[in-house]
Amino acid sequence: MWKPPQRIKFHPNPGRVPSAEEAGASRLFSTARIGALELEQRTWVPAMVPWRSNEDGVVTADVLQWYERFARGRPGAIVIEATGIRDIPSGPLLRISHDRYIAGLRELVETIRRASEGHTRVFIQIIDFLSIRRRPEAEKFFQRFLRITEHHRTRLNAADWPEQAIRDRLAALPEAELESVLDAREWEALQFGARERVTDMALPHIRALPQTLPTLFSDAARRAQGAGFDGVELHYAHAYTMASFLSAINNRADGYGGSRENRVRLPLEVYQAVRQAVGPHYVVGCRYLAEECIEGGNTVEDASWFGVEFARAGMDFISTSRGGKFDDAKQPGVGSSAYPYTGRSGYECMPQYLSDEFGPFGRNIAPTAAIRHAIRDAGLPTPVVCTGGVHNFDMAEAMLERNDCDIVGTARQSLADPDWTLKTLLGLGHEVRLCEYTNYCEGLDQKHKQVTCQLWDRQQTDEPGIRLSSDGKRRLTAPPWTPPAG
Ligand SMILES: Cc1cc2nc3c(=O)[nH]c(=O)nc-3n(C[C@H](O)[C@H](O)[C@H](O)COP(=O)(O)O)c2cc1C
Ligand code: SF4
Repeated sequence: MWKPPQRIKFHPNPGRVPSAEEAGASRLFSTARIGALELEQRTWVPAMVPWRSNEDGVVTADVLQWYERFARGRPGAIVIEATGIRDIPSGPLLRISHDRYIAGLRELVETIRRASEGHTRVFIQIIDFLSIRRRPEAEKFFQRFLRITEHHRTRLNAADWPEQAIRDRLAALPEAELESVLDAREWEALQFGARERVTDMALPHIRALPQTLPTLFSDAARRAQGAGFDGVELHYAHAYTMASFLSAINNRADGYGGSRENRVRLPLEVYQAVRQAVGPHYVVGCRYLAEECIEGGNTVEDASWFGVEFARAGMDFISTSRGGKFDDAKQPGVGSSAYPYTGRSGYECMPQYLSDEFGPFGRNIAPTAAIRHAIRDAGLPTPVVCTGGVHNFDMAEAMLERNDCDIVGTARQSLADPDWTLKTLLGLGHEVRLCEYTNYCEGLDQKHKQVTCQLWDRQQTDEPGIRLSSDGKRRLTAPPWTPPAG
C-alpha cells in the first residue's frame, strides 16, 4: 500500500477509560433512531469483506462464525460485508443475487440475533461492480487479447501487413515505443489488466446500466428483507459502479454524467426502485465517499450536496468512507488484479500507522461533519455514520459531542477486538485490545485470503472446535472473552 512520504509513526491510544456508570450515561451508549428502528447504542461495525464465503457465494459455516463473534460484542449495528447482486461467478464474494441465497442469509441474521441476544441490528451492504481482468502476460496480451485496429497499422506504418505480423511486431517492441503505439486503454490493459468503466458507452451493457441496475438492486433488497435483515446499505462507495456514477470524472453524455444533478440521478433512481420494493418502513441507507481523494474526483462540497439529495429522497441513514479507488491503484503483478486500496486514495480509506502529520486517526471526521451540517442546514434529521481510524471511547464520544456524526463506525478496531464496545460499556475498557493499524488484515484482504487480525490469529490455535485458515496456521475468529459474572 502507498504510504505518506513523511512516514511518521503513530500509536493508538486507549484514551480515558470510563467507569461503567460513566459509559452507561454517555452519548456513545445512548439509543439512536434510524428510520423506523432504534439502535441500542451508537456503535456500528461497518462492512468488511473477510473472504469466508466460497465460489458459490453462499453463507458458509465460516461466515456464520465470523459474524457470530462480532455479535457477541453487542454493537448497535453490524453491516454484513459487500454482497453481490448479480447472479454471476464472483470469486468467494457473498451473494444475494437469487432467491436461492435467502435461506442461508436468514440463518446468518438468526445467528447474529441469537449471539447478540437481540441487542444488535443487522444490515447488509449490497454491491455492483464492473469487470476487471488480471494483468496479462505481455505475450498472451499481444497474441490473444489485443484487437488489432487501423490505429496500430497507421502507427506501425504497416497498412498491408497480415495481422500476425503486427502482433509479432508489437510483442517485440520496447515498452517506451509501445506506449505510443497502443491507445491509453490498451496500454492500461497491458500494464494493469483491462477494467471496465461506467463511461464505456460503446459497450451495450455499460450503456444500459441505468436500465438494469435499479432492478438488480431492488431485487436484492427484497431478498434482504425476506431474509430478515433490519435494512440494506446501498454500496455507493469506493471503486464500484455506483460510486463511479457519482464521481466527478463521470462524463457520460446520456444524462447520467457531467453535472452533479446528472451524476446523482442513477443513485437516486436505484434508491427509489429499492424503496418501491421494500415499502416505506424498511430501513434503506447508503455508504458513499466523503471525498474521493483522486485527481479531479469529488470533494467534500460534492459529497455534501449528494448527502442532502440522499436525505431529501428519504434515505434512513448515510454512512461515509473515503478514497479506495482504482484510478491511483498500484500496478499489480502479472496474473493479479489491480486492488483499489494500494494508492493514495487507498491509504485515505484504510490509513495505517506510518502516516503524515495528521496521522491515521479520524481523517474522515471533518468531511463527514461538513456533510452532516449540510444535511441539518437543509432541515433534515437523517443520521450520519462516520468511520475511519476510531479506536477508543474518548474519540467516539467527542465526535458525538461535537455533532460530527450521529453514529460511530469502527472497522479494524472491531476486528482487533470485537468486544471493545461491550468491555467499555462494562467499565472494563482497560481490557480492550487496541488495533495497531498495521494493515496486516488489509494485506490478507488484498490477496483474497481469509482476513484475520495479527493480534489474535496465532493465539490458542489448539482450542477445541475452533476453525483454522486454509493454511492451518491462523484461527479464523478472535479468542472468546467472557464478561465477569455479575
Ligand atoms: C478487511 C477489510 C474489508 C473491508 N471491506 C469493506 C466492504 O466490504 N465494504 C465497505 O464499504 N468497506 C469495506 N472496508 C472498509 C471499512 O469498512 C472501513 O471504512 C475502513 O477500514 C476504515 O475504517 P477503520 O479505520 O475503522 O478500519 C473494509 C476494510 C477492511 C479492513
Ligand atoms: S491486523 Fe489487527 S491490529 Fe493490524 S490493522 Fe488489522 S485489525 Fe488492526
